[in-house]
Amino acid sequence: MKKYNVAIVGMGFIGKLHYDALRRLPNVHIRTIVVHRESEIPLVKQAYDVDIVTTDWREAVADPQIQVIHNCTPNALHDEVNLAAIAAGKHIYAEKPMSLTTQGAEAVYEAAKAAGVAHGINYQYRMNAAVQEMRGRIRSGELGRPLYVSGRYLQESVARMTDYTPRRIPETSPARALLDIGVHWADTSGFVLGAPIRKVYAKMYIHHPIRIDPATGREIHVRSDDTTAVMVEFADGTPGSALFSKCMLGHKNDLSVTVSGDQKEYTWNQERCDLLEVGNRGLGNETIYVDKSCCLPETAAYLTLPAGHAPGWQDAEKNALLAFYGSIETEAYLKGAVDYATFADGVWGNRFVDACLASARQDKWIEL
Ligand SMILES: NC(=O)c1ccc[n+]([C@@H]2O[C@H](COP(=O)([O-])OP(=O)(O)OC[C@H]3O[C@@H](n4cnc5c(N)ncnc54)[C@H](O)[C@@H]3O)[C@@H](O)[C@H]2O)c1
Repeated sequence: MKKYNVAIVGMGFIGKLHYDALRRLPNVHIRTIVVHRESEIPLVKQAYDVDIVTTDWREAVADPQIQVIHNCTPNALHDEVNLAAIAAGKHIYAEKPMSLTTQGAEAVYEAAKAAGVAHGINYQYRMNAAVQEMRGRIRSGELGRPLYVSGRYLQESVARMTDYTPRRIPETSPARALLDIGVHWADTSGFVLGAPIRKVYAKMYIHHPIRIDPATGREIHVRSDDTTAVMVEFADGTPGSALFSKCMLGHKNDLSVTVSGDQKEYTWNQERCDLLEVGNRGLGNETIYVDKSCCLPETAAYLTLPAGHAPGWQDAEKNALLAFYGSIETEAYLKGAVDYATFADGVWGNRFVDACLASARQDKWIEL
């Protein structure tokens, strides 16, 4: 079996989860980890099985032994690392949001297409078995005609005025709830419905226009959204709405998508991510433990364990990377025949964010 040599650039919260998921794949060797500071090198060398630890991501990009780069850096670095990796002919699996702006995302996507490299964007929630099952059931017609898509993505990390760190609230970012979590809802909802969002009407809220940095006492003037409420219309005409917030106490990682049809309703919630809730009329509602005994045949590929051995966040991540590396091995990526999110979906995420920003500014519907 061919093994791909990989570099993970950025070893914070998500870089560590890429590492774990990559270690579950048979055809990957993690050659390099890129950290930010020299002081991190000994710790990373001790904690991870890796050949090279460096602070210079350009060194990893220039390494002829490396075929794939995982870009797990903060948002503001995404374009630079993605473009350099593509220019060096590497396949690239990048964290969301794809870019800070649609223009940036489009430039990176065009470069990846021109270079003919495989590209993936980490909208991993669509690779959860229950999300695949929801999409499969909607496709099969069980839902009937979709009437409305609703949902939310709520977290609690910056609910208080002193919840400031430059990592949590980057002052140069044009959007926050939208770029951090809204893009995930947009991808997951469009994926299950089989039609992307094409139009938005958004309202943005900055609950704490001035925050206090508890480390320095400095006042921070905040310009990006703590909360955004959005009405949407999908490409098939289905209407919907969602709430995104980083300020909802008690909500840890509360992503949910409900599709209401004229025959059934399906709900998936990330915090109970092995379950699919089915709304029935005249039958009683159902909670399905998605497993091989009751799911559609095509969902089985996303499951490894029997019911009750709940698949979770890390399984979706593994499924996404399995599909990405599988498409490199079979060259399916060259035909676009892939189910993981690609840079085309990444661009759509940035269009969604920019359309919401324009809508909130102009107080009107905006087309993506
Ligand atoms: N897909 C998801 O569900 C998901 C979840 C969380 C974060 N993310 C995305 O992942 C990215 C990183 O987020 P995070 O939560 O891991 O942040 P983080 O701050 O925990 O990690 C980022 C890491 O990058 C490092 N870094 C910064 N500059 C660097 C450089 N020049 N070279 C090497 N390393 C550098 C930082 O030191 C830090 O360790 C963001 O774009 C975020 O949107 C995605």
